[in-house]
Amino acid sequence: MEKLFAEHDFDTVVHFAAESHVDRSILEPELFLTTNIVGTQTLLDAAMRHWKLSPDDKYSREYKPGVRYLQVSTDEVYGALGREGMFTETTPLSPNSPYSASKAGADLVVRAYHETYGLPVNITRCSNNYGPYQFPEKLIPLMIHNARKDRPLPVYGDGLQIRDWLHVRDHCAAIAAVLEKGEAGQVYNVGGNNEKANIEIIRLILKELGKPESLISYVKDRPGHDRRYAIDNTKITTLLGWRPEYTFEKGIRETIQWYLEHPEWVERITSGEYQRYYEKMYLN
Ligand code: DAU
Repeated sequence: MEKLFAEHDFDTVVHFAAESHVDRSILEPELFLTTNIVGTQTLLDAAMRHWKLSPDDKYSREYKPGVRYLQVSTDEVYGALGREGMFTETTPLSPNSPYSASKAGADLVVRAYHETYGLPVNITRCSNNYGPYQFPEKLIPLMIHNARKDRPLPVYGDGLQIRDWLHVRDHCAAIAAVLEKGEAGQVYNVGGNNEKANIEIIRLILKELGKPESLISYVKDRPGHDRRYAIDNTKITTLLGWRPEYTFEKGIRETIQWYLEHPEWVERITSGEYQRYYEKMYLN
């Protein structure tokens, strides 16, 4: 990190990198805590050292003008909702999986660097993303991949869990809006007001691909499975003027089409390690 900062003189860091899959965090929690919490601290330290006007003075709060550290977080740090309500930026953190606990931990470290060292930071907490290039461990690409191959579609529990889906391009536009107009130290929730039950999405994918519903296979539920997420996006829409552009109908069709047109990408990344993960997770 030190070397990269010295070479490129970054003025902005957007920290997207993370161990991001809940099911994998159940299998290997330590990896998640190390990567997501200690990894975040490593990046914060590098940014702080490079951006501080007096890098060796822990008590100084003066930074080069215009620098910004943005932590890409998740709505999962807020825990789960019942039928009613939405997550706002002031909803208490209540993570339920090792993954979401590691993201909540990282958010608290980012917050502490702002409070203690005056580092200009933002945190964005987005709902479920979908779109091209998503790794087929996540619901939508996994179901497209399996349906194409006429493999069973593993639905956890009753399939009635609800997620608030946002196209990845809309997420990126929200991050750009926060970088341009966000106030340092602020958290912004990002979501598309687009709640869907998992089973609805799975049925839609089968329909689009012309595959039978008999491929649906109800399997054992994910432990600690959050029932519902929903984002209140009032802060980012009213203060920063961001709005999602994609409707779910357009976005999901384009996404399915993208996966159909890129079988070589999918084949390449679903060999090797993915195959081992898939067997451990779904076949054993
Ligand atoms: O809410 C934002 C979060 O969305 C991100 O922070 C995470 O990095 C991302 O993985 C995602 O978390 P989820 O656990 O909601 O996403 P996932 O795609 O794993 O699952 C979506 C829903 O579908 C969830 O209720 C579990 C269910 N599911 C998932 C898989 C992979 C199934 O029923 N069967 C499956 O095989």
